[in-house]
Amino acid sequence: MKTGMVTLIRGDGIGPEITDATLEVIEAAGVKINWETVEAGQEAIAEHGTPLPGAVLQSLKKNGIGLKGPLTTPVGSGFRSVNVTLRQELKLFANLRPVKSLPGVNTPFNDLDLVIVRENTEDLYSGVEHMVGEDAAESIKIITRRASERIARFAFDYAIQNGRKKVTAVHKANILKLSDGLFLESTRRVAKDYPQVEFNDVIVDNAAMQLVLNPHQFDLLVAPNLYGDILSDLCAGLIGGLGLTPGINIGEEVSLFEPVHGSAPDIAGKDLANPTAMILSAVFMLRHLGYSSAAERIEKALYGHYEEGKYLTADLGGDTGTGKMAAALAERIAKMD
Ligand code: NAI
Repeated sequence: MKTGMVTLIRGDGIGPEITDATLEVIEAAGVKINWETVEAGQEAIAEHGTPLPGAVLQSLKKNGIGLKGPLTTPVGSGFRSVNVTLRQELKLFANLRPVKSLPGVNTPFNDLDLVIVRENTEDLYSGVEHMVGEDAAESIKIITRRASERIARFAFDYAIQNGRKKVTAVHKANILKLSDGLFLESTRRVAKDYPQVEFNDVIVDNAAMQLVLNPHQFDLLVAPNLYGDILSDLCAGLIGGLGLTPGINIGEEVSLFEPVHGSAPDIAGKDLANPTAMILSAVFMLRHLGYSSAAERIEKALYGHYEEGKYLTADLGGDTGTGKMAAALAERIAKMD
């Protein structure tokens, strides 16, 4: 950590509720973080006239680490996604999305444990779009050898460091012969440097079906930006929903921890959100900061919470509010001491 401070973006929609829950749980685990809170998203527009004030990027660049709630992006028109801009401006080239079953959360597949490594800076998210006349629109998909090799190398290094045995590249190179072809060629080339890790590739539509039929065949999936985005929501569904899946954006200078899900406007402000994804994102952040025993206690509390299955939020069929779930977790952590 560069400054001893962590940038905190509370986020839009359910962001403030799940952030409060997360801070309560971190505090219960006995960790005192020196937060630097900055405003981004809808709230920032009212006060600063932009969803991404300069102070946000400055704070993240200075501190090198941040915890972030979800930010709303208007659909179809309006400002460009702050999430995408943050990832590009801070060169957060890898988006790591661990998908791990929680005990007691019953789904068609139990004991699922896979990781999606998503390229985070290019593909159709490069924001190069224009109208062609009035009745056609063109969006440019950019895939570079440099970014593809970098994400492939990241995926293989992560596999080795974390005991993963197999890397699967996801693509649509049968149709997008140049762009996805380059991604596939790059991952194949990098795979040769890691003979100890099994490697295969799968076309994205087949990947979607295989994930629904037999997700246990996968260990780590590495994908360009769009497929990684879509498949990680699919995988969230496999373990019980978006409320449960954490995410980590990794760059050379900055790491930004955030849940996979969005601002969930349909349930915002109603004390209905499941804070687990944000809490698990914070668990990864605590490990990154070296607070591994606090991280372990929070994780253990979450596992105990779900094993008991008593205080569940509405997404998992319960009627426990966000605040009450945080309090239950804090109490569980306190009892561990
Ligand atoms: P969403 O992820 O916000 O919601 C999809 C569904 O999952 C909704 O039914 C929602 O209620 C539910 N859900 C999400 N998180 C939940 C939680 N923690 N607990 C319980 N239920 C939860 O996706 P949607 O509706 O497509 O997007 C809403 C906004 O969020 C958009 O403006 C989008 O651009 C933004 N977004 C932001 C992201 C980020 O900040 N990283 C990521 C994805 C979307």
